[in-house]
Amino acid sequence: MELLLVPPGPDRHALLPLLLLADDVAERYIDDGDLWAFGEPGAPVDGIVLTLPAGERGTVDLCNVAVHPERQGRGIGLAMVAAVVDALRAQGWRRAVVGTGTADPVTYVFYQRCGFRPHHVERDVFTRENGYDPEQLREPNSLTHLDVLWFDLILQ
Ligand SMILES: CC(C)(COP(=O)(O)OP(=O)(O)OC[C@H]1O[C@@H](n2cnc3c(N)ncnc32)[C@H](O)[C@@H]1OP(=O)(O)O)[C@@H](O)C(=O)NCCC(=O)NCCS
Repeated sequence: MELLLVPPGPDRHALLPLLLLADDVAERYIDDGDLWAFGEPGAPVDGIVLTLPAGERGTVDLCNVAVHPERQGRGIGLAMVAAVVDALRAQGWRRAVVGTGTADPVTYVFYQRCGFRPHHVERDVFTRENGYDPEQLREPNSLTHLDVLWFDLILQ
């Protein structure tokens, strides 16, 4: 597997369907930060992580993490985040953060499997005012995403 940086522009926009799996408003920031693509050399991308500097100095936000729907559940997400974490450490970042909606336990189990630890809850993020449609954010367990659970991982 290889991890590549995708430059802003058409190559990134071709990956928008993957980013939309994780965030309905991903189009807003698709050309910002670093977009990491993970997969077999020469094959279609298996998954992506988009990273952006967070407010705090030395802290980077994994603001979009997604694996192709047909390739989920095979350890790709785990391997991809591990590779991105190594790359972020090599870039000199001191701390990584990631936020995920509280309605889907799969994602917060996933981030803990990736080594992240719960940090705090940010309330009222997935609102109409912020561009989200609550109807689109209902999980099969009948919960609707509203709040974000933040995790962090110390890198150095
Ligand atoms: C979340 C996501 C990135 C995980 O990637 P993945 O390749 O499917 O995950 P992996 O196969 O590496 O799973 C790693 C661990 O996460 C947990 N996990 C992943 N999918 C799970 C599921 N459907 N149910 C329960 N646990 C799950 C398990 O602990 C798993 O370890 P195990 O296989 O040893 O049990 C992927 O499911 C995805 O792209 N989902 C849609 C987009 C999304 O929700 N992104 C995150 C938004 S914050």
